[in-house]
Amino acid sequence: MIVNTKEMLEQAKREHYAVPHFNINNLEWTRYILEACQENKSPVIIGVSEGAIQYMGGALTVANMVRSLVQDLAITVPVAIHLDHGSSVESCKTCIDAGFTSVMIDASKYDLAENIRIVKEVVAYAHPKDITVEAEIGHIGGMEDHVSSSIAYADQNDAIRLVTETKIDTLAPAVGSVHGIYKGLPNIRIDLINDIKHDTALPLVLHGGSGIPDDIIRNSIIAGICKLNINTELQLAWSQAVRQYLQEQPDIYDPRKIIKSGASAMKQMIKEKILLLGSNDKA
Ligand code: 13P
Repeated sequence: MIVNTKEMLEQAKREHYAVPHFNINNLEWTRYILEACQENKSPVIIGVSEGAIQYMGGALTVANMVRSLVQDLAITVPVAIHLDHGSSVESCKTCIDAGFTSVMIDASKYDLAENIRIVKEVVAYAHPKDITVEAEIGHIGGMEDHVSSSIAYADQNDAIRLVTETKIDTLAPAVGSVHGIYKGLPNIRIDLINDIKHDTALPLVLHGGSGIPDDIIRNSIIAGICKLNINTELQLAWSQAVRQYLQEQPDIYDPRKIIKSGASAMKQMIKEKILLLGSNDKA
């Protein structure tokens, strides 16, 4: 069932769990994610970056692929097709027109006034079409920010202004996570998640979900995280399994067998994440 993210995240907020957002790269990944979420009765957000959209051919190809797989595989759990880190109003509009049900507009690199202006434009286009909108406050960077401790934590007052002035549906505040694998432990500000949840009353999003210890994830969910974005850990699980398969089977050349050799490692990882987030049996 293709839906936007509003209902699934509101339910997660009410029932104190988080919905997994898994990034896709191709048809096979989409299939493994959908099947694993169906098996575990979990709602799921299929996250697609602009790079992945380009890689797969375009937004229309991606939206139609996800929609067709949901039909062909008889997937009944709620599935959202979500643009991850949309960099411009145009990019969000293209995805909405193509059939995405949810977009993130990431204007966090701009000052607050400009961030608000850009997000408002996306909301004005998305909401009449029943498309949900996520925005970012503070800046969630990569490992270089973690190593140099230059993480730009979200400002509470800025978060309140962004939410009240734009009417977004979900907010991704920078609370100490980064994209990619951590060197050392991340300093996730649980107190900040809690404060922003109380200030905004919105379901909150934690980016950079790979490599964060389980107890920190659980505490983040208690504090207000309702959506956890996971990309790198799936990539690691898949590529390690494929690498091992190719070493053990040096004569294999059928691409279907090669790609599929990473399926069970990926599905196992997805299941573990679903159980960690508590989204199993919620669909
Ligand atoms: P990771 O690659 O660290 O899991 O982050 C994913 C993410 O936040 C996508 O938006």
